[in-house]
Amino acid sequence: QSHDDENVVWHSHQIDKAFRAEQKKQKPCVLWFTGLSGAGKSTVAGALETRLSALGYHTYLLDGDNVRHGLCKDLGFSAEDRRENIRRIGEVAKLMADAGLIVFSAFISPHRQERQLVRDMLAEGEFLEVFVDTPLEECEKRDPKGLYKKARAGQIKHFTGIDAEYEQPEAAEIHLQAGNVSVDALVDQCLASLKQRSIVE
Ligand code: PPS
Repeated sequence: QSHDDENVVWHSHQIDKAFRAEQKKQKPCVLWFTGLSGAGKSTVAGALETRLSALGYHTYLLDGDNVRHGLCKDLGFSAEDRRENIRRIGEVAKLMADAGLIVFSAFISPHRQERQLVRDMLAEGEFLEVFVDTPLEECEKRDPKGLYKKARAGQIKHFTGIDAEYEQPEAAEIHLQAGNVSVDALVDQCLASLKQRSIVE
């Protein structure tokens, strides 16, 4: 744990992550959904969270649009602001995993470097990258918020996939080919992977 000021010192408390995880009988982790706008990140993360909740797991979903109304309301979509957005969310996700939760996050998180930064914040096996791989053409066809249309018309600048880059994950733990598949089937694929990793029974 680092801080620029040497007088700010990390304090280890008695009740720790292992204790809370044991109390909750679950393995805390962060399921980090990444993909283009309109790929289905929030939809799939939300549906998976609903399934895990129904099975009795204690979860929390951090969602892009919602976080940008509060914690990150001062940030825009420049590369620098996106980096800070992801850094803050990573720290929050880490706190929540520390509290013993299974955390879902649904942010475009377009840069490999930032996703790696969050991975490095967590212990080995606690960060699972979920690539919601929906082709740009399909996202643009869905255009649920009409943002692609605005981006094509030049009314929104730095829009991911149009005039801002999206760096695809190279080794995501879960790769969802999500263009033409039902949400249920995608949730099943995630669940199978979580079972295989002994995160759920
Ligand atoms: S990032 O890149 O991870 O910091 O972005 P995120 O916090 O996930 O926010 C993405 C949502 O913001 C809306 N939006 C934009 N997206 C991409 N580029 C630009 N310029 C932009 N402006 C607004 C958009 O609705 C994204 O929502 P999702 O849910 O991903 O479709």
